[in-house]
Amino acid sequence: MKIVILGFGAVGQGVARVISMKKDYLRSKYGLKPQIVAVCDHSGAAIKEEGLDEKLLLETKTEKGKISLYPSYGAPGVDSLQVLEDVEYDCLVEVTPTDIDDGEPARSHILKAMEDGKDVVTSNKGPLALSFQELGDCAGKNGVELKFEACVGGAMPIINFAHETLAGCNIESIYGILNGTTNYILSRMANEGSSYEQTLQEAQEMGIAETNPYQDVEGIDAACKIVIMANSILNLPVTLKDVDVEGISRITSESIALAKKEGMLIKLIGEASPDALEVSPRLVRQGSPFAVEGTLNVATLKTDLADDVTVVGKGAGSVETASAILSDIVSIWKIRK
Ligand SMILES: NC(=O)c1ccc[n+]([C@@H]2O[C@H](COP(=O)([O-])OP(=O)(O)OC[C@H]3O[C@@H](n4cnc5c(N)ncnc54)[C@H](OP(=O)(O)O)[C@@H]3O)[C@@H](O)[C@H]2O)c1
Repeated sequence: MKIVILGFGAVGQGVARVISMKKDYLRSKYGLKPQIVAVCDHSGAAIKEEGLDEKLLLETKTEKGKISLYPSYGAPGVDSLQVLEDVEYDCLVEVTPTDIDDGEPARSHILKAMEDGKDVVTSNKGPLALSFQELGDCAGKNGVELKFEACVGGAMPIINFAHETLAGCNIESIYGILNGTTNYILSRMANEGSSYEQTLQEAQEMGIAETNPYQDVEGIDAACKIVIMANSILNLPVTLKDVDVEGISRITSESIALAKKEGMLIKLIGEASPDALEVSPRLVRQGSPFAVEGTLNVATLKTDLADDVTVVGKGAGSVETASAILSDIVSIWKIRK
């Protein structure tokens, strides 16, 4: 399977790393031989029809900062759409940064690949939260797969789990902690009695919160995930503007202490059901499955046959998120081989 990776940051590099680590396993277990034929970052591309060397890709990015400096096969200044036009490939892995205003550049990348008859795997929430139906229609029209497990909860299995493992169940609602940064801040505030501002600053210093934490702390990131799950799992044709969103920036250490006294914790909860699309701080009972600490994500699917099913997992991380992308690549391979 010839793969193009657009974006070579934490997740793109994680994908190269897991492909390198799992080469023998993928070949012996599934007969899958993934070949990375092109990679793009801001500097341009590295392109090699017979397959780039994953370790050399990682070394080049780490040591030189630019993938276009890949020895002999670097293509400085060649942009991602040009790569999709010129390179022969089977599957696009789209892992450029999320943009929630227009979904670009990922939206154009994904549409171009699907219109050219290529399968797509992405961790990019932007285009799906803004135009889920359009992208799904485009995949259907062109007979290609669009897979996005890594968009919701990183390594926490939820999309494919709902579609495959719970295939016979009607899923009525989804309820969960879908943002690791806010869960980390709220956990530390509860454990240490620290203020929101101080805890956010420490999370930024540790690289857990971004320099501009707006989308995480104001609940937008969780709302994107709610939209993706509402469309994909509950069949609700909604977009980001349909979600009622309130973040955690107004939560005080006093309100957390008060909740604790009553045996409760304050968590940022996302909910999707035919009656509610919402992200807001809510009380959960200490000791319940929702009392997860740190950057963990958790989600409960309410089903007709299996009752409540809860999954927990790491919501972010280079290799962790790449594991979800690899699982989508394997699913596509099983369909195509
Ligand atoms: N990190 C996680 O744990 C995680 C978990 C789940 C989902 N996600 C999602 O996965 C995606 C990637 O995340 P990340 O953490 O890997 O981001 P990142 O570290 O910021 O990397 C983004 C990469 O995209 C490249 N890029 C930006 N614009 C481009 C363009 N127009 N053409 C080609 N390359 C371009 C950047 O190039 P330069 O390197 O040259 O700047 C960089 O290599 C995001 O949408 C994110 O929301 C991330």
